[in-house]
Amino acid sequence: MKIVVTGSIGHIGKPLVPRLVANGHQLTVITSKQQNAPVIEAMGAKAVTGSVEDVNLLTDTFSGADIVYTMVPSFYGAADLLEFYRSVGENYAEAIRQSGVKRVINLSSFGAHLSKGTGVILGAHYVEEILDELENVQITHMRPTSFYYNLLSFADMIRNQGFIAINCGGNDLIQLVHPDDIAAAIADEAAQPGTHRKIRYVMSDERTCSEIAAAIGKEIGKPDLEWRLISDEEARNRYLQAGVPPLLAQYLTEIYSSLHNGKLAEDLVHHRPEYGKIKLEDYAREFAVIYNGKNN
Ligand SMILES: NC(=O)c1ccc[n+]([C@@H]2O[C@H](COP(=O)([O-])OP(=O)(O)OC[C@H]3O[C@@H](n4cnc5c(N)ncnc54)[C@H](OP(=O)(O)O)[C@@H]3O)[C@@H](O)[C@H]2O)c1
Repeated sequence: MKIVVTGSIGHIGKPLVPRLVANGHQLTVITSKQQNAPVIEAMGAKAVTGSVEDVNLLTDTFSGADIVYTMVPSFYGAADLLEFYRSVGENYAEAIRQSGVKRVINLSSFGAHLSKGTGVILGAHYVEEILDELENVQITHMRPTSFYYNLLSFADMIRNQGFIAINCGGNDLIQLVHPDDIAAAIADEAAQPGTHRKIRYVMSDERTCSEIAAAIGKEIGKPDLEWRLISDEEARNRYLQAGVPPLLAQYLTEIYSSLHNGKLAEDLVHHRPEYGKIKLEDYAREFAVIYNGKNN
């Protein structure tokens, strides 16, 4: 099949592109950086350089595709991240309409069922709503849980304070996922017949914050590493003191608050996926390589 992949060879695209090529698909990958085109072509895919903010480029690239994989790239430079999600979602919808694409696999997020109180994840809710308005288009919304790589945002806190402290911690459960497992689920989805609307959760492991701290601590030589629970207010103040812009501080606080109170995962429990392959202990080794690399 002819498949267009957005999100280039980012965290998910990197394992996804070779997997889809190996499955015999004809791939076109959109990158915003010309220098990534040769890397994409070496993987056996065609590269198109341009932005997901350019609806004409999206329409041209989507034309003739059997499946389009849509995702909104992380863009922390955006003045309002939610507005960025909404506008990229609208670009995708317009390009899908204009190009006549009939099947979409959209990267969403757990928590996308909620219409408030989820920080940046509200962006995924908006994109699902925008795409769902498309008539006669089969859509699967992939809803991965919390990416393991989010844990890297605690590296400086671990280094400087010796512990993790946010408004989700201790015995709170976090549902974790690795991009390799997301890529495997997307490739599996592409191999199945499309349906009008489908939600598919992806999760690799599920552990308490204390268990996560212990696994990471073991690998970085801090076996007593603690993950403490602090209040929403304290967490927000810490972000602000660290220079995080107020709107982003609010979004981050909301995400961890909705993890702490279980809301992000409340719909997932009704559609539990099988666990993927990458367990916490596997990721803890990846974390340590990056953490130690930064120390050098
Ligand atoms: N973090 C979480 O826990 C979590 C949970 C659920 C869902 N998600 C969702 O996962 C997504 C992030 O996935 P990811 O980690 O695979 O993405 P990513 O690695 O952050 O970004 C993918 C790639 O998109 C390309 N890109 C950036 N800006 C672009 C633009 N304007 N036009 C075209 N391409 C552009 C970049 O590659 P080039 O440099 O080659 O252009 C980038 O490497 C977000 O939508 C997020 O909401 C995250």
